[in-house]
Amino acid sequence: ANSDDEKMIEAHELLKKFYHHLLVNTKEGQAAFDYLTARGFTKETIEQFEIGYALDSWDFVAKFLTKRGYNPEMMEKAGLLVKKNSSDGYLDRFRNRIMFPILDHTGRTIAFSGRVLGKEQPKFLNSPETPIFNKSKVLYNFHQARVHIRKNQQVVLFEGFADVISAVRSDVQHSIATMGTSLTEAQAKIIKRNAGDVIICYDSDSAGLEATLRASKTLAAAGCKMRVAALPDGTDPDDYIRTFGAEKFKKDVIGASITLMAFKMQVFRKGKNLQDEGQRLQYIEDILKELSLLENPVEIELYLKQLSGEFSLSMDVLKSQIQDKRTGQK
Ligand code: GTP
Ligand code: MN
Ligand code: MN
Ligand code: MN
Ligand code: MN
Repeated sequence: ANSDDEKMIEAHELLKKFYHHLLVNTKEGQAAFDYLTARGFTKETIEQFEIGYALDSWDFVAKFLTKRGYNPEMMEKAGLLVKKNSSDGYLDRFRNRIMFPILDHTGRTIAFSGRVLGKEQPKFLNSPETPIFNKSKVLYNFHQARVHIRKNQQVVLFEGFADVISAVRSDVQHSIATMGTSLTEAQAKIIKRNAGDVIICYDSDSAGLEATLRASKTLAAAGCKMRVAALPDGTDPDDYIRTFGAEKFKKDVIGASITLMAFKMQVFRKGKNLQDEGQRLQYIEDILKELSLLENPVEIELYLKQLSGEFSLSMDVLKSQIQDKRTGQK
């Protein structure tokens, strides 16, 4: 790394400590601290994830960094400041937000994600791409999770920071998340290098469902095996843990993870009335199409048996259907 990079990282480290101090020790940080407490964040969690608070000020960080000898132009490139539109000078990028530091895989602070306290938009503001921060290669909490990932030979993949933090507090330590974007090829390769198995535990809403299917393709391409930990409709892992507790999360969500195929079957079934012949045929058709893409004959047989049992269809007919679809794909 060159010396500009070093400087940028140093500024992030310094600011991380200051944001944390503001959250934990000052009157200005009290509302943010109360917000986190109301959401179930403990003092211990706030310490472990080095969570902080950015003041409701236009230029606090600009002054703070300049006073300590950091070049504002460089700090703008680092994503901490933004150029004023109207005149010379720089303003703070993050104002009045809860600050989640983003660490690289060796534990250096390279970016921030700031969450609003209320309902304003955008809910999260992330550091932009900078010389030290490449979103597509960073996984949140990977630095702390790595040793647990290796030990368990498994990763639990979440959508949001709050989900990771709640999971870790529930003693599911091998938890990581993407930076609010789809899982990238580079991230999937990093996962594959450290563990073969992935449990995808995304939000149970339409965005999370779509993201699960996308991530599963990327993970499969990288050679990972995966399962899906499904949640009740409309909840996310953090909601679930706060409502039902850590033990139930570990047992009934993580411990009850299902195969990707079983998850897809649940998805196909959603909103369908299987008493209706047309919808029933569509459901069977959807499943057969998915099954025709699988390679493991034992897995295929297993799901065919389920279908055959549930809808009183002969295995021979189902098998020939799959064969037809395969021929069609070639
Ligand atoms: P809470 O509302 O605090 O529980 O956050 P959440 O993690 O449940 O958020 P949500 O499920 O809405 O989004 C999942 C992840 O997507 C977040 O952790 C962010 O990384 C990202 N994300 C969500 N909203 C935004 C946004 O407005 N801007 C950006 N850049 N990322 C977002
Ligand atoms: Mn502290
Ligand atoms: Mn979501
Ligand atoms: Mn969520
Ligand atoms: Mn949430």
